[in-house]
Amino acid sequence: MKDLQFKRHRRLRTTESMRSLVRETHLNKEDLIFPIFVVEGENIKNEVSSMPGVYQVSLDYLTAEMQELEDLGIRSVILFGVPHEKDETGSQAYCETGIVQKAIRQVKEDVPSLTVVADTCLCQYTDHGHCGVVRDGEIVNDESLELIVETAVSQAKAGADIIAPSNMMDGFVAAIRRGLDEAGFVNTPIMSYAVKYASSFYGPFRDAAHSSPQFGDRRAYQMDPANRLEAIREAQSDVEEGADFLIVKPALAYLDIMREVKDRYPLPVVAYNVSGEYSMIKAAAQNGWVNEKEIVLEKLTSMKRAGADLIITYFAKDVARYLSES
Ligand code: PBG
Repeated sequence: MKDLQFKRHRRLRTTESMRSLVRETHLNKEDLIFPIFVVEGENIKNEVSSMPGVYQVSLDYLTAEMQELEDLGIRSVILFGVPHEKDETGSQAYCETGIVQKAIRQVKEDVPSLTVVADTCLCQYTDHGHCGVVRDGEIVNDESLELIVETAVSQAKAGADIIAPSNMMDGFVAAIRRGLDEAGFVNTPIMSYAVKYASSFYGPFRDAAHSSPQFGDRRAYQMDPANRLEAIREAQSDVEEGADFLIVKPALAYLDIMREVKDRYPLPVVAYNVSGEYSMIKAAAQNGWVNEKEIVLEKLTSMKRAGADLIITYFAKDVARYLSES
């Protein structure tokens, strides 16, 4: 190898202590937001069949779940309500005594140190399973906004620390911002699902939240997976309309988009590590085909490397345990 010119990159990989010295990306417990499904009823702790280790819980189990999070060092939770009654306009989404409003109140009372994020959407609450108002088979935008604002304000009144609209109607950030401000919640931030693709990775979530569309699909409001510039337009509007955080969803198949959003906008970026991404790893791990811990840490680290500041993930509790072990 005489006279051969090359660089010795392996110098920085010789030992674990050397590797940790030059490590560029770190996962922290503070980065994690844990999603939880709260169902109406009593004494319910149902494992979601397509999401092993993920449960729908009733209010009587919720506080213990939240305390477990706190003990593990997780500081934030995103709540999804699973109501008994559905109707055409999703009225349980914006009802003062709706399941998610009750859940928010309870968590803020029992475990006040947790940051409570409320997912703001109608699909779990409408009998047709769409995220807005349906007229003649179409999801109409501006009428939907009114109900979405009502939902957001009711969640803020219940004590939600952050409002996270996921419905993909145009103008939802502007409408919610105005609604929150008028109701006196000028300090309640909006974590916008700014970039949300019409993705097959949401399948298991729809089992968990009973939110599958009863006709058609969501492609007239969620984004085409083939598009990149459209993601920038979506994020740009949300920034202009006053979003405080930008979610990119799903995460794993869209890391390129995450990086672009992070580079363009000076806001915290949130990766939503969605249900299908969770279930695929769980299934492979249960078969002994992959090492769950290693693959989960690699995957979440990749999201941070791609620009995510925070990660919504069903693996949050596992990751908190892994981080404590190491
Ligand atoms: C509600 C909503 C969905 C998810 C989060 N909020 C489902 C959807 O848009 O159909 C999916 C999350 C996941 O798959 O983990 N609109």
